[in-house]
Amino acid sequence: MKRGLFKSSMIYGITLLMVCFQGRIVAKTNSSVWLSSLDLSKMTTGWGKAQADKSITQQKLSIGGVTYEKGVGSHAPSVMHIKLNKGTTRFTSFVGVDDDTEHPNASVVFKIYADNKAVFNSGVMKASDAPKKVDIDLKGAKRLILIVNAAGDGISYDHADWAMAKFEVSGTKPVAVGPPAEKEYILTPKPKPAPKINGPKVFGTRPGNPFIYRIPATGKRPMTFSAENLPPSMSLDVNSGIITGHSPAKRGDYKITLNAKNASGTDSRPFKLVVGDTLALTPPMGWNSWYIHYHRVTDADMRAAADAMIDSGMADYGYMYVNIDDCWSKKKNDTPYRDECEAILPNAKFPDMYALTDYIHSKGLRAGIYTSPGPWNCAGYVGSFQHEQIDAQLFAEWGFDFLKYDWCSYGGHAVDRSRYEYVKPYALMGEILRNVSRDMVYNLCQYGMDSVWQWGADVDGNCWRTTGDLGLMSSYLEVGLSNARHYEYAKPGRWNDPDYILIGWVGNAHAQGEGVKTKLTPSQQYQYMSMWSLMAAPLIFSGDMTKLDDFTLNVLCNHEVIDINQDPLGKQGRIVEQTDEYFIMTKDLEDGSKAVGIFNTSEVELSINVAWKTLDIQGTQTVRDVWRQKDIGTFSKEYQTNVPRRGVSFVRISQ
Ligand code: GLA
Repeated sequence: MKRGLFKSSMIYGITLLMVCFQGRIVAKTNSSVWLSSLDLSKMTTGWGKAQADKSITQQKLSIGGVTYEKGVGSHAPSVMHIKLNKGTTRFTSFVGVDDDTEHPNASVVFKIYADNKAVFNSGVMKASDAPKKVDIDLKGAKRLILIVNAAGDGISYDHADWAMAKFEVSGTKPVAVGPPAEKEYILTPKPKPAPKINGPKVFGTRPGNPFIYRIPATGKRPMTFSAENLPPSMSLDVNSGIITGHSPAKRGDYKITLNAKNASGTDSRPFKLVVGDTLALTPPMGWNSWYIHYHRVTDADMRAAADAMIDSGMADYGYMYVNIDDCWSKKKNDTPYRDECEAILPNAKFPDMYALTDYIHSKGLRAGIYTSPGPWNCAGYVGSFQHEQIDAQLFAEWGFDFLKYDWCSYGGHAVDRSRYEYVKPYALMGEILRNVSRDMVYNLCQYGMDSVWQWGADVDGNCWRTTGDLGLMSSYLEVGLSNARHYEYAKPGRWNDPDYILIGWVGNAHAQGEGVKTKLTPSQQYQYMSMWSLMAAPLIFSGDMTKLDDFTLNVLCNHEVIDINQDPLGKQGRIVEQTDEYFIMTKDLEDGSKAVGIFNTSEVELSINVAWKTLDIQGTQTVRDVWRQKDIGTFSKEYQTNVPRRGVSFVRISQ
């Protein structure tokens, strides 16, 4: 080449480069970006942490005997959102289960969405399967979602590799981001000014015991209340709507009608008092101190919670239990633990238990307390070991209406791991509570050991925790789906308990610090509350009662949602259809209608179809959106609806 020509072509080249640069197409010179070079902290994993260029257990990446230098080792369930901004043209990878697991349970499905459209599905892949190739055209795409799910058989050994995963980039580089932000959206309509009586329609009590019940009603105050057929052993305060007195001495059903009246109108609601042996004929509703106050809990916190239950309006929807969790008794070095008569002593933060329950009762609410069958409660405070009778009697005398009985340190005193030993401490307390002269809802807490749902009713438990602590587990969905399996055991007075509702301002159970605003999206919070309602789970909120915002209250206080939870038939909803992307849960209701939750567990909005066949119904049905409290229309064979990412469509279907 002649020198001059070289020079001019160089000048020409630079000019072209500059033109291109100014026209912002310089990156047309394609480059590759490895997935492993992105911020992998944005990739969620069901176990461990996503690894760059290694398997999840930090071995060389290997699928079906083929090893790879580059890629990302992950673990199902895993999700990663990547912003592409139309700068990426292609994504290629090999996918499969890493060879560091040979377990037969290792099975996963890889899925990819580009701008909310499914663009790849590996089908189920098991350990030792040959790698599958991914090659996706991404021209013009703005967002990519990489997903690995557990293929429906649990997450054990689900080590999943994105081997040699890379992007061809011609513009802006891909960036790992969080899931799309979601604005709070309020679905629950504001209560009307006219009275509306809420809460349970059936209520269990034992003969002759003290009774307190505040008629839950929304509507403008002042409001006046009356009750037809109120047993003579009870009286109603006309202005507050608080019923006090004693349950009738005679067993039987007492059919009371509650009435409320204000300047805008009137309302009535049946209230059947069942005087017998079983309490909590509908799932208990209230608040518990654990997930916000932990070891800091004080008498003042409990009073503030009771105040807030009234002032926020929660009590107008049926929330009534104000429950102290652990940390009210003495700690190891704070002797004496008991007085000279062996009566347990509260610590300095609870100067007067009588005064505390009086305060809670003065508002028409009920009070709850906590102890363990072991010598020490889970947080190291004194428990009731070998003092069961004296403690329960004192709790009743103090005026508590609810007891959470938490296994904690009892393990060291159980002779072996037989059912007899698991049942023993709970049977003992059940027997004692049956005979104290106060209705105390009995909440078994032993994390589901020895299938407590099979025997919780035999020890007179009203509700039993079916899993470990929700606050220590990966999500409400994991806990909820586990709890859902035991639907056959729930019935009036006997409820599976998947733990508290952790929304609003709530503490982190690991750190036990002050509360922070929940990280759950608004749609997830609707899922949570819908699922708990369908499962007839106790509705016990455990966030900050002094920081209840409009959104949190809209989730906690929707009377149509709560009516489904409190339905007198007392059935727990069951899952009738489940895929990796959604599940449908349905609950039979007393009036013959069905509550149906259509839960989207995927990363994108889905259109989901519910066939009447799946619900075991026929003919024309009216579908009502319970969150919005609005009829959607009539349908004759099926109902199809768009459900937001990780959201729910909650409907009531009736003929
Ligand atoms: C256990 C229970 C929790 C809570 C703590 C208190 O972990 O499962 O609900 O009561 O103890 O220490």
